[in-house]
Amino acid sequence: MSRPHNGSATAAEFPWDQVQQLDYQDANTGSIAQACHAMIFAKTEAKFVSQLPCKAWVLMQMRFDGKLGFPGGVVSDQAIPDTTLEDGLNREMEEELALDMSRFAFSKKHYVVSHFCPKANLILNFYAQEVTEQEFKEIEGNALRAEEYGHECLGIVRIPLFTLQDGHNGLPVFLQNQFAGTSILQVIVGLCTHNLMKPDELNTAMAVLPRHQG
Ligand code: GTP
Ligand code: MN
Ligand code: MN
Ligand code: MN
Ligand code: MN
Ligand code: MN
Repeated sequence: MSRPHNGSATAAEFPWDQVQQLDYQDANTGSIAQACHAMIFAKTEAKFVSQLPCKAWVLMQMRFDGKLGFPGGVVSDQAIPDTTLEDGLNREMEEELALDMSRFAFSKKHYVVSHFCPKANLILNFYAQEVTEQEFKEIEGNALRAEEYGHECLGIVRIPLFTLQDGHNGLPVFLQNQFAGTSILQVIVGLCTHNLMKPDELNTAMAVLPRHQG
């Protein structure tokens, strides 16, 4: 693995052993920078292509660097002092998604997990918020009006949470994208924490990868 682990990785390449899980930190960690990203999702009965059930819509973004990631960003840097991690996250959610803060502000109750990447000297905090299907569609539609749309954010995407009959298309193919930072780890933790996918379903999707590459 030559890529630095804060760079990007597909699920198959991710250097799982180089990232430490941390407890919740406060906003001031001195010389260690922090970022906060968040997963917005809606449980749904709606069917995907080929009438497959999918359990949930999960929002990610196509970033300016061509990688997939969650909306969010660096918090508590010198230029923009955020009082708390959640203040910083909410500022980024407004910039990148134009998220309506009167209804969808993130708070500590949405916190999921933090990871520390020693090489990048960066703590990556992760949050998740469940919304209704109607709210999810509104959030998606509104995102095109975000200040960063067309700049940091080049598109809003949903994760295909299903595998087609061929055992390959759908989630296994999606997992071959390049994911920013530790976002592939956050996808997995987020889906499992919120019961959107069972660990063995995810294992199956990931196990398919190397055999089908190329
Ligand atoms: P700038 O304002 O340009 O600094 O962008 P930003 O504040 O929005 O920061 P960004 O979202 O790019 O996140 C900062 C760093 O975290 C990036 O350099 C990536 O390595 C990493 N990163 C980006 N997206 C994600 C994500 O969804 N999850 C995780 N864990 N890391 C991410
Ligand atoms: Mn940003
Ligand atoms: Mn960002
Ligand atoms: Mn930023
Ligand atoms: Mn920015
Ligand atoms: Mn920028």
